[in-house]
Amino acid sequence: MKWAATAASALLVPANALLRFPCAQLVIDRVDPLVNPGLSPSPHIHQILGGNSFNITMDPAKDMPNESTCTSCQFSEDFSNYWTAILYFKARNGTYKRVPQFPNAGFDGVNGGMTVYYMQDGLYNFAQTSKVQAFKPGFRMYIGDVNAKTREQAERFRQLTFTCLDTIGTRDPQTLDFPEAPCKTGIMTAVRFPTCWDGQNLDSPDHMAHMSYPESGTFESGGPCPASHPVRMPQLFYEVMWDTSKFNDKADWPEDGSQPFVWSFGDGTGYANHGDYLFGWKDDALQRAMDSPCYVNCPTPKTQNTQAMNACTIKPRVNEDIDGWVKELPGGHQAQYVKRR
Ligand SMILES: *[C@@H]1O[C@H](CO)[C@@H](O)[C@H](O)[C@H]1NC(C)=O
Ligand SMILES: *[C@@H]1O[C@H](CO)[C@@H](O)[C@H](O)[C@H]1NC(C)=O
Ligand SMILES: *[C@@H]1O[C@H](CO)[C@@H](O)[C@H](O)[C@H]1NC(C)=O
Repeated sequence: MKWAATAASALLVPANALLRFPCAQLVIDRVDPLVNPGLSPSPHIHQILGGNSFNITMDPAKDMPNESTCTSCQFSEDFSNYWTAILYFKARNGTYKRVPQFPNAGFDGVNGGMTVYYMQDGLYNFAQTSKVQAFKPGFRMYIGDVNAKTREQAERFRQLTFTCLDTIGTRDPQTLDFPEAPCKTGIMTAVRFPTCWDGQNLDSPDHMAHMSYPESGTFESGGPCPASHPVRMPQLFYEVMWDTSKFNDKADWPEDGSQPFVWSFGDGTGYANHGDYLFGWKDDALQRAMDSPCYVNCPTPKTQNTQAMNACTIKPRVNEDIDGWVKELPGGHQAQYVKRR
């Protein structure tokens, strides 16, 4: 695979027991069946990936991902849905344009979307030894705070970050706020979910309380799960590549030199980075994959080619102009920037 040739330069340390795969864009739409079930339009616009049974309501009791007839993910038994907000550029004249996405290293030709990881342990590390229990049908979760406005609020979460890409392989440093200067190749956002489950609830009122971070350490150091959430689950992790390089002309940035990018719900700090997940792997395909150590080119799950991934799309429910210059963000939001220093 192409990935094998670029892996060494893209990631510093090789590893095993790690699924890394692309999911193309299923749809860009103003719906959110986790936070705003049944509501169309939802307050802000998202990019959504995965199984095509995605709908404004996803009843956990009905295991709706199994109604999908295709998925935009490379692993063809993965009908999960993955979604994040999208990024906009605000020009000096006050109008906005959606920032296009580009494929991560090794995934040329994939239309938008993101890279999804399921790992036994935290970081790219040969010692992937933890036994993990796959998520169950009906399981869903959210991580982040859409209302976060300060660094302190953002610091409650481990590893919701931005990387200013010099090259496609740049991975550090990671920041909690938008990069302040133009980034040559683009901006990567990362969303890492907690890994410890309470063992009982498929969801919770804030979509987070049924999950917990390890008792100590960040995700890299893989501390023990707390007694309240004793079940270790895969480290789910998204990487999204935003092609901000088209917007690097400083003449179009704010006169005070501050950064011009904004999340689709108006956050211009970056502190409100968040992501959503709705499990939908077929039968025990995820458990089997997690029990078969491998690194990136994982032979256990069935795969489909890029053309088939890109072909799996659904029609948006809400008609938005997602390609032109617009006076406000979809849903009527305006960018809110705060002085950070
Ligand atoms: C979405 O749900 C509606 C009912 O709420 C249903 O009529 C429609 O067929 C569903 N769409 C898909 C793609 O399943
Ligand atoms: C999906 O799962 C539900 C709940 O287990 C089941 O009732 C339904 O028949 C399944 N549908 C398909 C298409 O497999
Ligand atoms: C605003 O600025 C952008 C970038 O320079 C330009 O493409 C767009 O046409 C401008 N829009 C208006 C309404 O002036």
